[in-house]
Amino acid sequence: MGPNVFVSRHPLVLDRLATLRDVQTPPARFRAAVRQLSHLLFVEASADLLTDTLTVRTPLADCPAHRLAQRIGVVPILRAGLGMADALLELVPEARVWHLGLYRDHETLQPVTYYNKLPPQVNVDVAFIVDPMLATGGSAVAAVGILRRWGCARIKFLGLIAAPEGVRALSAAHPEVPIHLVAIDSHLNECGYIVPGLGDAGDRQFDTV
Ligand code: PRP
Ligand code: URA
Repeated sequence: MGPNVFVSRHPLVLDRLATLRDVQTPPARFRAAVRQLSHLLFVEASADLLTDTLTVRTPLADCPAHRLAQRIGVVPILRAGLGMADALLELVPEARVWHLGLYRDHETLQPVTYYNKLPPQVNVDVAFIVDPMLATGGSAVAAVGILRRWGCARIKFLGLIAAPEGVRALSAAHPEVPIHLVAIDSHLNECGYIVPGLGDAGDRQFDTV
């Protein structure tokens, strides 16, 4: 995979990934694993954010310190991205959130846009698109395209499990977008599901199987 693709090998990530994949994991534990994996992934994916320096006064003395200098946008692809967005907001509560409604047509596997709530002006420095599954890559490519046309200059994609096909499609369409993942699996099956994957990320979070 290309230089802009990052797959976490952190032991905590590997542990939670096992929970996520396990068919026996019920929705509440599944959602908790999505949240924990998203925290861990976001810490790695945001390591290059810029900070300003300042001085804070502790109970004992003045102390040099840092504050985040960049405005963050979180862009969940509905609906499976919602659990990841909640996790990012726990770490960056002041982030702006834009919802993009995209679903995959079951026959064609092409993304269909049904909701798009962006403000008139780009008001962040870095936008993090979040969606647990990067399968054909159609939804992620469409989401980056929507943000680009809107004027967003700096975009990162955070996913959990990808198929090689999806990573290749997103890298080819938008090579400048870093892709952060916890696993790249074997392949897509004939229905467009990632193998071994975890099944349907939306259904498993929201118990709609
Ligand atoms: C899933 C997933 C991605 C998309 C990935 O959403 O959350 O958005 O499929 O597939 P792709 O890479 O082939 O585009 P789905 O269409 O199942 O919608 P949902 O989140 O509402 O369940
Ligand atoms: N969407 C999912 O939720 N799972 C897959 O395996 C592929 C797309």
